[in-house]
Amino acid sequence: MRRKVIAGNWKMNMLPNEAIEFVQKLEPLVKDTKNEVILCVPYTDLFYTLNMAQGTNIKIGAQNMHYESKGAFTGEVSAEMLKCIGVEYVIIGHSERRAYFAETDETVNKKLKSALKNELKPIVCVGESLEQREKGETKDIITNQTRLALEGLSPEEVEKVIIAYEPIWAIGTGKTATANDAEESIHAIREEISKIYGQDTSDRVIIQYGGSVKSSNSQELFSMPDIDGGLVGGASLDANEFAKIVNFEN
Ligand code: 13P
Repeated sequence: MRRKVIAGNWKMNMLPNEAIEFVQKLEPLVKDTKNEVILCVPYTDLFYTLNMAQGTNIKIGAQNMHYESKGAFTGEVSAEMLKCIGVEYVIIGHSERRAYFAETDETVNKKLKSALKNELKPIVCVGESLEQREKGETKDIITNQTRLALEGLSPEEVEKVIIAYEPIWAIGTGKTATANDAEESIHAIREEISKIYGQDTSDRVIIQYGGSVKSSNSQELFSMPDIDGGLVGGASLDANEFAKIVNFEN
């Protein structure tokens, strides 16, 4: 049985004092869940949230990293830098990074390899645009993105990767994919992994849904057989709302 993993992606929000307050508020609300709880925070909140989350069941992640370990890359942060302060997770290839910061399938693959080498757990995002969905290209786009992201990894490494299926048209728009549409896409991703890495590996990979997840739709989405939780943007900025999503079974 795969576990459910609920990750918040704060994007470029939350000053350190707000982040500290958030973790204090969230902790008692999620302490009894059996689901995995992750907050992916801006770099400037990492240190504070790591301190606040110590001894709790809340795990901390970053939202991006560079694939090189060090060097002349002004403004960038490496996997090793994240790992050494205690960060556990890192989002790679979010559609906002692909759209605004020239992230490609190739850089996603390099970042994934560097994250795994440094024992960070990557959350890799894939997803189609509205235009691609309307042209009937969804399955091709997301299975290709998945294949290229994972290229060169062993089955054991693939099992350590979390994939987040985030249809671009559902991000920040209030439009959620129906549970059936999300399930169909995530099932297609799982089949692709099975074709390349085998059924056992594919059965073990955590695949989340992301895109306008809120407490009112999380139970329906996360109860689908192939959907192992969610990557939550806007609704993760409110501790009460995010806790309800984490505790979606209740
Ligand atoms: P929203 O939940 O705000 O739609 O954002 C989803 C997302 O991009 C999470 O990474």
